[in-house]
Amino acid sequence: MEQDLHVRDRVGVQDFVLLENHTSEADFIENLQKRSKEELIYTYIGSVLVSVNPYKNLPIYGPDYVEKYRNVNFYELPPHVFALTDTALRSLRGELINQCILISGESGAGKTEASKKVLQFIAATTRKKASLETVKDKLLQSNPVLEAFGNAKTNRNDNSSRFGKYMDVEFDFTGDPTGGHIINYLLEKSRVVFQAKGERNFHIFYQLLAGADDDLLEKLFLKRDPDLYVYLKQGGSSRLSGIDDAQSFKIVREALYVMEIGDEEQEALFHLLAVIIHLGNLEFASGEGGRASISNPALVSTIAKLLGCPEDKLVKALLNRTIEARDDVVVSPMGRDEAVKARDALSKSVYERMFNWLVQRLNRSLQSDAEVKKKMVLGILDIYGFEIFQSNSFEQLCINYCNEKLQQLFIELTLKSEQDEYRREGIAWEPVAYFDNKIICDLIEEKHKGIISIMDEECLVPGEANDKTFLNKMNKLLSEHPHYVSHAKGDTKTKKTIEREEFRLVHYAGEVTYNVNGFLEKNNDLLYRDLKEAMISSSNRITKDMFTASELSRKKRPDTAASQFKTSLAQLVDILVSKEPSYIRCIKPNDVQKPGLFETAIVTHQVKYLGLMENLRVRRAGFAYRRPYEGFLNRYKSLCPETWPHPKGDAKSAVQTLVNHLKYGADDYRMGLTKIFIRLPKTLFETEDAFQKRKNELASKIQAKYKGILQRRKYLAIRARIIAVQALVRRFLAKREATKRRSAVAVIRQFIIGFMKRNEPMGSDNEKFLGFVRHQYLLRLAKQLPQSVMDKSWPDAPASCQEANNILRAMHMQWMVGRYCKGLSPSRRHQFEMKVLAEAVFKNNKKSYGASVTKWFVDCRLSTDQQGVFRSNFEVNVKSQGETILYSAPVTKFDRHGYKARDRFLALTKAAVYLLDAKDCKVKHRLTFNDITGITVTNSQDNLIVVRIPEDDKKDKGDLILECNYLIETLTWIVDTCKNRDIIRFESATSLTHHIAKGKPGTIEITRGGEITGITKGKNGHLMVVSCQQLQKRLPSPNKQIFFFHFALKAAT
Ligand SMILES: Nc1ncnc2c1ncn2[C@@H]1O[C@H](COP(=O)(O)OP(=O)(O)OP(=O)(O)O)[C@@H](O)[C@H]1O
Ligand SMILES: [Mg+2]
Repeated sequence: MEQDLHVRDRVGVQDFVLLENHTSEADFIENLQKRSKEELIYTYIGSVLVSVNPYKNLPIYGPDYVEKYRNVNFYELPPHVFALTDTALRSLRGELINQCILISGESGAGKTEASKKVLQFIAATTRKKASLETVKDKLLQSNPVLEAFGNAKTNRNDNSSRFGKYMDVEFDFTGDPTGGHIINYLLEKSRVVFQAKGERNFHIFYQLLAGADDDLLEKLFLKRDPDLYVYLKQGGSSRLSGIDDAQSFKIVREALYVMEIGDEEQEALFHLLAVIIHLGNLEFASGEGGRASISNPALVSTIAKLLGCPEDKLVKALLNRTIEARDDVVVSPMGRDEAVKARDALSKSVYERMFNWLVQRLNRSLQSDAEVKKKMVLGILDIYGFEIFQSNSFEQLCINYCNEKLQQLFIELTLKSEQDEYRREGIAWEPVAYFDNKIICDLIEEKHKGIISIMDEECLVPGEANDKTFLNKMNKLLSEHPHYVSHAKGDTKTKKTIEREEFRLVHYAGEVTYNVNGFLEKNNDLLYRDLKEAMISSSNRITKDMFTASELSRKKRPDTAASQFKTSLAQLVDILVSKEPSYIRCIKPNDVQKPGLFETAIVTHQVKYLGLMENLRVRRAGFAYRRPYEGFLNRYKSLCPETWPHPKGDAKSAVQTLVNHLKYGADDYRMGLTKIFIRLPKTLFETEDAFQKRKNELASKIQAKYKGILQRRKYLAIRARIIAVQALVRRFLAKREATKRRSAVAVIRQFIIGFMKRNEPMGSDNEKFLGFVRHQYLLRLAKQLPQSVMDKSWPDAPASCQEANNILRAMHMQWMVGRYCKGLSPSRRHQFEMKVLAEAVFKNNKKSYGASVTKWFVDCRLSTDQQGVFRSNFEVNVKSQGETILYSAPVTKFDRHGYKARDRFLALTKAAVYLLDAKDCKVKHRLTFNDITGITVTNSQDNLIVVRIPEDDKKDKGDLILECNYLIETLTWIVDTCKNRDIIRFESATSLTHHIAKGKPGTIEITRGGEITGITKGKNGHLMVVSCQQLQKRLPSPNKQIFFFHFALKAAT
């Protein structure tokens, strides 16, 4: 299939430039014919697109084709309207040059279709974005609306544009369409009231009747049959095969909605259409004195209702004409014919103004929303084609004049100026002859001499001026003009073909005979004041907009229709020359709208008058592209290292360097005075492709640079922020440090003051210091605490802590002792308790106490031998009585009489103190603690113990006098056993008395400071007790442990 397409594409030549015999018109036509036979409707002449109407739908406009032609250089693919549009779009986007696409050709050649394809391609290839879709939709939907109201079936084209249209599609700098603007030119409004045989009024009338629902029709007082209405049936072809008016009506209504024309405005439109349809059926009769009267007045009432204006006013306006002559106002009734004309003038005027209103509304809707800064436009010109009808009138003259102007522009831009340019630029050039239609344009538009001027003058002549006088004047003034032919001037042969009221113009596209009837009236385009007033009083919102009271007060006569058209054409030419043009030259292959029929004569005629052969010759010999050196250099300088970025020398030499670098062939280009000329599009496109590639590279570089700048900017911003943060942090830290130092200074100062006043009572000045001292002291103390009771060390305490220090020291000692004590065995514990008891009882009371401290208390002082007897003779017995021996020691007992010393053992049980015979351990005394009233000892070193026994004791005969070497130990055991410390009494006197039962008390003398301690009987019969003073010195060095116990016990208490 693709292969087929490829082969087919190669039918003939795709570009006429490639024709072997490019001067042969026959070859040209043959090529067109060959290609159109294969349905290849497009062919190029260089960059001009020639399109032959296929009169049938071809599958070459689908999305696949859009994709295929998008962004592809046009010489790379078969010719196509898409290729041309794509090139224009790329130039618009890439080089920011405003574009226009000029579509020309005669009626039915396919201009409107081509313009729709251009729009279709623009819509399909621009970005798919929700915001753009509405714009695109509106651009596309403006067409059905305008076609319904501005197109009609003619004998040449079933959908002939009866108005000229120039549409600007606006783009922003990114190439997105942002809106549009339509300029309409001269609507053929005569069609509203008259249609030639085989033709129709504007589509919308038939669409309304066919498509409106019954309700709407009823509202509009209309019937569905168009043949009931004069204005719609004159052509006799109100129904067309192949056109579905009802369906079209639906499409139009949809399109109106898209263009933001809502129900209300649509209804106003339909009302006006109905008014016009009814006006056509309004009949006038010639009454009294030739005055017109309305034959069907009910219809006026309907029309007035539809218009929303007073019926009587409308009736009056339809039948009378008010003429203002200086200060006088004259109302003159109209005759029948005049009334018919006035009615038609009203219909035409209403339709024309409604059409203008519609264009205004479309423009409002198409207006770009945002104020686009750099707006680019692509203009599409689809204007009525050259027309030759059986009978040609004022409208045809205007239409053909328009085509003359456009042809002139085409000649100007493609043939004349191009050749002039070659000459100016000093390019070797053989001039190509062509027909310059300036002479025809002048014939029509020249000031004072041209047809329009003559016509305007005639319109201004008061009184008798009419179409005939106008024709006469033309015949008189223009008879010598080679392009003007009149009945009067013509030879007999010509006379036969031109009627008396006709004149003929030899247009560039052919001879057209115009019938002068109606020219002045159409040019004057007058609507009587009365009718205007009636319309101003209408409540229809469109007529309210379009007929304004100010119009009535305007004194200045409005420009004639032809003058207005001339001015608007001049403006159009200005618009077009300011843009880069692309051309589509449409050709119709036959007059009968039949597919596959190629009538050579018809095509040849068009090829001729369109100047395509000349176009080809110039193209073939000439150069497809030219660019001023500066522009060319600016665009492409990046392609050559020597010209990038700053070319050396002048622009021309730099361009030469550039093209050398690009390896242009010698024949591919020419260097003019100010421009470079490039022969084939291919060469430029290759350069352009290279540029696009390079542009991407450069864009990447710029992007990279830009990204770099952005990143650097970001980095600098971050850095600045970091520095700011750092500064803040530093400030914060410094402030904190300062505060710290300040408070440190305050603390130190307070410390120093505290130190100076450390010995003063605690107050606000030294409170902290002392606290600190205490704290330090406690910390130091915690580290230096003695670990054992024996360790006497104790850290120094500051003066302020002395009290606490002492308490702590004691507490610590107590704690250590407590700990020590907790760790003691019960026997050892008892030992300590005994020692403590001994101290409590004897310290400071008995001098021999000191010597006892360092010795262990034991529970038996008997020798091993003594113990044997003691156990067997005494302990066994005592045990049998339930007593346990707690302590035993040898003592000396002195008789109460004579003080004879006897060896005894002292034994202690819980119950009593026993004195035993030292030999056999017989019990000599058993003293329960009740039996003992006290035990007296001296406070000296001696070992005397006097056990006081009550005098009335039967068993014992007085106090017991004992000497015991273990006095302290023995007595401590006794005190411990009887739990009565007070049992021991100390005597400091030098003598003491002891009781003897029933006898005289004995005396014991006590001597202190003797040589040896001892008890003897004195010569005076007294017992002599001597206590030695030095005895302590001779004590062995104190057993450390005992000493410790002593200390510990003290601490513990
Ligand atoms: N490319 C095409 N493909 C198919 N049919 C086409 C094409 N171009 C034109 N036609 C047919 O030819 C008819 C007339 O075309 P178009 O309306 O574009 O003519 P025109 O040049 O605008 O005429 P006018 O000057 O009267 O408005 C179209 O209605 C359509 O049927
Ligand atoms: Mg058209």
